[in-house]
Amino acid sequence: MNQKEDLTENPALIYNAEMTTLIDQFNRRIDYVRLSVTDRCDLRCFYCMPEAFKDFEEPEHWLSFDEIERLIRVFSELGVKRVRLTGGEPLVRKNLPVLAQRLSALPLLDDLSLSTNATRLAKQAEALRDSGITRINVSLDTLKPAVFKRITKGKLEKVLDGLMVAKQVGLMPIKINMVVMKGINDQEVEDMVEFCIEHGFTLRFIETMPVGDTGREAQDQFVDLRDVRRRLEQRFDLVPGAVPGAGPARYVQVQGTGVNIGFITPISQHFCETCNRVRIAVDGSLYLCLGQEHSVSLRPIMRSGVSDDELKQVIKAAIDIKPERHEFNEKPQQVLRFMSMTGG
Ligand code: GTP
Ligand code: 5AD
Ligand code: SF4
Repeated sequence: MNQKEDLTENPALIYNAEMTTLIDQFNRRIDYVRLSVTDRCDLRCFYCMPEAFKDFEEPEHWLSFDEIERLIRVFSELGVKRVRLTGGEPLVRKNLPVLAQRLSALPLLDDLSLSTNATRLAKQAEALRDSGITRINVSLDTLKPAVFKRITKGKLEKVLDGLMVAKQVGLMPIKINMVVMKGINDQEVEDMVEFCIEHGFTLRFIETMPVGDTGREAQDQFVDLRDVRRRLEQRFDLVPGAVPGAGPARYVQVQGTGVNIGFITPISQHFCETCNRVRIAVDGSLYLCLGQEHSVSLRPIMRSGVSDDELKQVIKAAIDIKPERHEFNEKPQQVLRFMSMTGG
């Protein structure tokens, strides 16, 4: 029996089919939630967060672990299979491995991952591995301590320690995220490839996005990743690649190494037609696109005592206003919030 017949004959299944998928008005299926567990960070990457940024949400406005677990369970019942924990820096949220354990126990989720700056990873890698986190992505823009200080105001050594401990305890696979910036780290792309070959990490290059004033100012250092790819082709033999994941990177592989290099190109090459994701900020705002301000505040709704079914209806209505795409090129002033509110 084909599925259509099945549905027509059984109204319960029609209801069920409606309830278990989130499809937006551009026919994109949403199965990936990026969940920010804090807007705080212990670094100050200049393209992300203002240096003197102190205006953090007060913790009472943050979703509690109970609220997060409920919300992610409800999303999973709507067909979300993958969740990525982001920040700010997610590891500054107290007891993150406990939250990870609770989320990884949700039966309908397939993939629980984490994007981190790795400053606190050395201490937490083992607990994270045991919590059910299946893979991590680490921001690392440079291998030079002085350049790292210039970009982040922090210490490179901590990040490298964190990476090595993660590798040692088997918190793998690891993807390295490098935002490529003219005159800052663009001369290091080959070194970063070599570093990833040495350690068996996947490497992704990222174009700077005009998100918040910080991101807009960083557009002065914008590098078109098509140029980076051409440059790498001079030195490495690049063949088509593929890496498991839910994000927008497009991969090549360095022949003979098994190492993949991904290109995340929101500015030079759009990928919005395949968008599969939404973002939840720590205050329970559901952001429907990284490049737009459309959002729905779920926290007051959840705290007003709605049922799961009512919450699902609110989420489905929100998905209906998911924008078709970002307008970083046409309207670079559009996104006022800082990247740190949704962790990219
Ligand atoms: P994988 O599942 O490993 O593919 O994860 P990911 O690439 O989705 O996650 P990660 O947090 O490592 O994101 C890497 C970069 O991609 C960050 O700079 C994000 O801001 C950027 N990115 C992720 N999703 C989107 C998106 O929907 N739109 C845009 N413009 N950028 C995105
Ligand atoms: N443009 C592009 N990527 C950014 N990130 C933070 N701010 C920006 C920006 N303005 C990246 C971080 C991290 C990821 C989650 O988001 O470097 O790798
Ligand atoms: Fe999706 Fe918006 Fe990112 Fe485009 S910019 S891929 S529509 S979240």
